[in-house]
Amino acid sequence: MKLFLDTANLDEIREGVRWGVLRGVTSNPSLVAKEERDFLPLMKEICSIVDGDVSIETTAEDADAIVRQGHEIAQVADNAVVKVLTSPEGLAATKRLSDEGIKVNMTLCFTPSQAILVAEAGAYIVSPFLGRLDDISTDSLRALSDICEIYAIQGYDTNVLAASLRHPMHIVEAALAGADIATMPYEVFTKLVKHPLTDIGLERFHADWTTLQDELRGGLENEKEA
Ligand code: E4P
Repeated sequence: MKLFLDTANLDEIREGVRWGVLRGVTSNPSLVAKEERDFLPLMKEICSIVDGDVSIETTAEDADAIVRQGHEIAQVADNAVVKVLTSPEGLAATKRLSDEGIKVNMTLCFTPSQAILVAEAGAYIVSPFLGRLDDISTDSLRALSDICEIYAIQGYDTNVLAASLRHPMHIVEAALAGADIATMPYEVFTKLVKHPLTDIGLERFHADWTTLQDELRGGLENEKEA
């Protein structure tokens, strides 16, 4: 399962790239608004930093306008993916863009029935949201597992990207369900590596190593004096 960052922040993306495990980025209008920068130039910079798909969201509501925005986004970089909302207009636009060979990520997908439509429209990625479903007491994991199973049974090529992930267990559950990609906020990404026993172990190894070096140095000094 590929790990993506759900952010438009350049520092977070650079750090993810430095770790060597970041395979892509997703963004949305709320995340872009936080950065207070011109939309497309910011997206172009992100695309140049990441070696992988960068989803850039359309904001138009009717199919013709979504397709126009999709063309603009597709020209930002070779790794730009056009993000489109799961709606009748979004499906119509996705079909047209996909037929032209433009990669589309259909977002705000919450149910297996929506995911079937997304795959039938020819989308490159479907983004089922977990956290927002959990927020309304709905079993998000069940929805994600069903989508992965349906895609496998039907042989759909559309990649399943687990989105709206709020904690490390969401990532583990997405991997077990068979998602192709998991996108997460930077804070969750950094939590993936954390374990108190790892920290304690590191401290102990470091302390033991330092003690050994000190003893060896002491021994050499005694030899010189003798
Ligand atoms: C994914 O592409 C979305 O941008 C994102 O995962 C939404 O997450 P949220 O529900 O935490 O806002």
